[in-house]
Amino acid sequence: MSTRRVAVVAGLRTPFVKSGGPFAELSGLELGCIVVSELMQRAELRPTEVDELVYGQVIPSALTANIAREIVLTSGLDRRTRAHSVSLACATAIQAMTNAAQSIMLGFSESAIAGGAECLSDVPIAVSRPLARAIVGASKGRSLKAKLGAFAGVKGRDLLPVPPALAEPTTGLTMGESGEKMAKENGISREAQDVLAHRSHTNAAAAWAAGKYADEVMTVHVPPKFSTHVKEDNIVRKDSELASYGKLPPVFDRKYGTITAGNASPLTDGASALLLMSEERAKAEGRTPLGFLKSYAYAAVDPAWQLLQAPPLAAPIALARAGLSLAEMDLVEMHEAFAAQVLSNVQAMASQKFYDERMLGTRAPGEVDPEKLNVNGGSIALGHPFAATGARMVMTALNELKRRGGQFALLTVCAAGGFGAAVVVERN
Ligand SMILES: CC(C)(COP(=O)(O)OP(=O)(O)OC[C@H]1O[C@@H](n2cnc3c(N)ncnc32)[C@H](O)[C@@H]1OP(=O)(O)O)[C@@H](O)C(=O)NCCC(=O)NCCS
Repeated sequence: MSTRRVAVVAGLRTPFVKSGGPFAELSGLELGCIVVSELMQRAELRPTEVDELVYGQVIPSALTANIAREIVLTSGLDRRTRAHSVSLACATAIQAMTNAAQSIMLGFSESAIAGGAECLSDVPIAVSRPLARAIVGASKGRSLKAKLGAFAGVKGRDLLPVPPALAEPTTGLTMGESGEKMAKENGISREAQDVLAHRSHTNAAAAWAAGKYADEVMTVHVPPKFSTHVKEDNIVRKDSELASYGKLPPVFDRKYGTITAGNASPLTDGASALLLMSEERAKAEGRTPLGFLKSYAYAAVDPAWQLLQAPPLAAPIALARAGLSLAEMDLVEMHEAFAAQVLSNVQAMASQKFYDERMLGTRAPGEVDPEKLNVNGGSIALGHPFAATGARMVMTALNELKRRGGQFALLTVCAAGGFGAAVVVERN
């Protein structure tokens, strides 16, 4: 890694709320603008002070192809600010952060904002291919007869809207079905998944109660009326009881499955943003960073194997690049798509056999200490607005390192397409 260190100067997110809830009338772009504007105000940034904005949305609106540029144009940043959009499924905010960090490392930027927004209340609804062909054909028709004729082959069923699929194009399996496959192949029990989910909610509720999220979660005054004020994540179960999880029916394999609404991440709306600067710029401005990016790595697996099992392949590379071991980590933040995936990732990281079969010559990082894992809750409890989650993890990890006087944290994120990201952050 470059010797030019990248400082995470500040981080902010909206509350993460269940889709169809208080942000149902908003778009990903609006949520992104809200969080970026507030971050700029809190950090007392002048519009020209940000060199670049890198931002993502996993399921973009059909009307906003380049969310990053639109945020620049509508959030108070100088209109000359460079911007580009990225997408790496659930690791999108990590990709945004590392892209921005690369610019800073190379000296192309001194400061950047990176993050992501997701509004699953506002997903693009497509039309069927026959209807789409007919509409395009009609637009080219020169007479009314020709325009109407384009619809001749369209059948009743072609009029049905087509929602975006949370399915892998190559396998046809949804994320949930892929999670079930991992649970079965890795022998992850329903009980273990429920215990992890309960812990995610318990830790998240305790963190909220202790005021740990106060500085990193803003209040959203929901436009256009601004009469609804959303202050907290609304998925966290304040009264989580382990016994209630076992009663929930499996959703992705109703007969033999183990994944339920209780041990899966829920469909969520929200946005997040990180302010990054070169260490020199942060120092020159007298800013005290939350911490620094130490190293990162990406890996990929065949989606037809175990879709969400790439983080264990990325983690040892990021650790080696940082010159550190898993045992030296004070915290581990692992994105929780499903409890079954977290437990599969944890199991793999402790298995030398896993590495001998897939990354010959790599030592297994070892056991993840449960006392260091997602200590303030994870995506199951906090929610998972796909493109926003990675930045949430970065700010939460750095704030927690500060509270407990720790130095290093490992973050891992699994993602559709068989991707995995791993990041090591450090406090000083
Ligand atoms: C799993 C999933 C289908 C559940 O969706 P849902 O049915 O809308 O979920 P809900 O939150 O409404 O929960 C269903 C019920 O279980 C209950 N429930 C959920 N967790 C519970 C718990 N811990 N204890 C008791 N009850 C619980 C809810 O209260 C709700 O009850 P109700 O029907 O009486 O209102 C959906 O969240 C999903 O698709 N998640 C995966 C998303 C995904 O693939 N992400 C990509 C991963 S990166």
